[in-house]
Amino acid sequence: MSKNYRAELVGAFGNPIDENPTGVMEEAAFAAKGLNFRYLTVKVEKEDLEAAMNGVKAFQMKGINLTIPHKVKVLEYLDELSEAAHIIGAVNMVVNKDGILWGENTDGKGFLISLKNEDVSVEGKNVVILGAGGAAKAIGVECALAGAKKITVVNRSRERGQDLADLIVEKTSADSIYVPWDTSYKAEPDTDILVNATSIGLYPDVDKKPDVDYDTVMPSMVVSDVVFNDPNTLFLQEAAKRGAHTINGLGMLVNQGALNFTLWTGAEAPLDVMTDTLKKEFGL
Ligand SMILES: NC(=O)c1ccc[n+]([C@@H]2O[C@H](COP(=O)([O-])OP(=O)(O)OC[C@H]3O[C@@H](n4cnc5c(N)ncnc54)[C@H](OP(=O)(O)O)[C@@H]3O)[C@@H](O)[C@H]2O)c1
Repeated sequence: MSKNYRAELVGAFGNPIDENPTGVMEEAAFAAKGLNFRYLTVKVEKEDLEAAMNGVKAFQMKGINLTIPHKVKVLEYLDELSEAAHIIGAVNMVVNKDGILWGENTDGKGFLISLKNEDVSVEGKNVVILGAGGAAKAIGVECALAGAKKITVVNRSRERGQDLADLIVEKTSADSIYVPWDTSYKAEPDTDILVNATSIGLYPDVDKKPDVDYDTVMPSMVVSDVVFNDPNTLFLQEAAKRGAHTINGLGMLVNQGALNFTLWTGAEAPLDVMTDTLKKEFGL
């Protein structure tokens, strides 16, 4: 039998990208499943994205992750999109299907799985999202598609916040409103799920927390953070002090990585290996 020295290639394009731990998690998963795949963490400047995406085809890569600043621009170089990616207008992963580049956004789906793993469903719920950037958009759209009753978008910049609320109303059956964030945000008592989808609290600013009146957080609420480094954010600590059910950002990160793994390889993702690898990477 002839030997195969060629590995299947996947990876990530972004800038900055040096601190992105996804490759360690995916490579541990490939090894655990005995798959001859390699994950390349590649620095790609804004103006080089087209050439880089041509490279995905030229190198017959199985797919690629996109991160800052490429998640929206990459749509110009894709052949097909999933429904969610089409609505969100951004993708975080691409599958190369024999030369056809298909874009998907697994951020929001990873978030929903992290909730489901804690027996939390968004169906019929009032969801409040702090932030209106890429992560907030993916979470807002996926929660709406999964049957959330109402999505409240709380954001500092008015235009971005209003745009996201409008998008949800226009493209899904959920209700959505924008709430300006110019004073300490007070959670309404009928809030079921409160999510920090801003980057506040992200390393090295681990001593910062979103401007929320934490005494309005109730034990009946589920409070989740997308920030995963460090996952034990001050936001979650304050919510836990008020008796809320807290869910950190590691679950979202692992589960979107697991979805990507399966879309690229067709194999079930080894979630335990991926979680343990990430925790080790973060010194947890
Ligand atoms: N766990 C996961 O798997 C996962 C996946 C994706 C992203 N993330 C995390 O999600 C976070 C957001 O990423 P992103 O891609 O959505 O970033 P982004 O598109 O740049 O959006 C950032 C959001 O945070 C808000 N914001 C930032 N600093 C703020 C401040 N001081 N006060 C009030 N609002 C502030 C921005 O408000 P304005 O609109 O007013 O600027 C915007 O809504 C990052 O920490 C990222 O690491 C986690």
